[in-house]
Amino acid sequence: MNFLSPQTSEYLNSLVPPRPAEMQKMEARAARDGFPIIGPACGQICYQIARMIGARRVYELGSGFGYSTAWFAMAVQENGGGEVHHTVWDETLSTQAKEHLAAMGLDEIVHYTVGEAVAAFKVTEGPFDIIFCDIDKEGYPNAVDLAYEKLRTGGVLLFDNMLWSGKILDESDQSAATQGIRETTGMLASSDKWITSVLPIRDGLSVSVKVK
Ligand SMILES: C[S@@+](CC[C@H](N)C(=O)[O-])C[C@H]1O[C@@H](n2cnc3c(N)ncnc32)[C@H](O)[C@@H]1O
Repeated sequence: MNFLSPQTSEYLNSLVPPRPAEMQKMEARAARDGFPIIGPACGQICYQIARMIGARRVYELGSGFGYSTAWFAMAVQENGGGEVHHTVWDETLSTQAKEHLAAMGLDEIVHYTVGEAVAAFKVTEGPFDIIFCDIDKEGYPNAVDLAYEKLRTGGVLLFDNMLWSGKILDESDQSAATQGIRETTGMLASSDKWITSVLPIRDGLSVSVKVK
């Protein structure tokens, strides 16, 4: 569900240039099955950030069938090559991502791990230029300090769903997921190690640059 009005979301999505055919297939599948991909406008900003900082190493925690991965992998390819880590605990999604990304000629860039994303990330050597987190929301706080450790100074940490369909504003919502997002936002916004903004695109994307 979008936090922005459907008209505003549609307008922002309409500004994104046409995606490759394989990505359009992924968008159609997500719409058909109700699978929560980041969508065009949020994908474009991820891609733009990766191009802006010349990212060559990206780690994605909580990947799906490869849609957000494709945005990062396109940027890394255009930046001269490197690696993008796709991590999900569902083997079928990992296999489907491999098929989509191979069809886009991005399979040499993407590394696949099936398993719990934070645990997998812990044993992967940094530094990374971008870390993107889209795991179950109660797990978000566990990713912040780990991401700090693995990110280069000037690198960018991104969390999806930071507005959580507006539920973060509903004080009666004390669910683990909503509390996980609140805690993560507090950790990022109150620390002088990060400069953070939450962009109200789709369901809210936090963008934090590691400054110390
Ligand atoms: C919201 S979807 C990712 C969508 C993806 N970012 C995209 O836009 O294409 C999150 C996926 O990560 C999986 N997931 C959630 N928490 C996870 C965790 N802690 N470890 C591994 N996978 C996780 C979910 O089952 C789901 O398949």
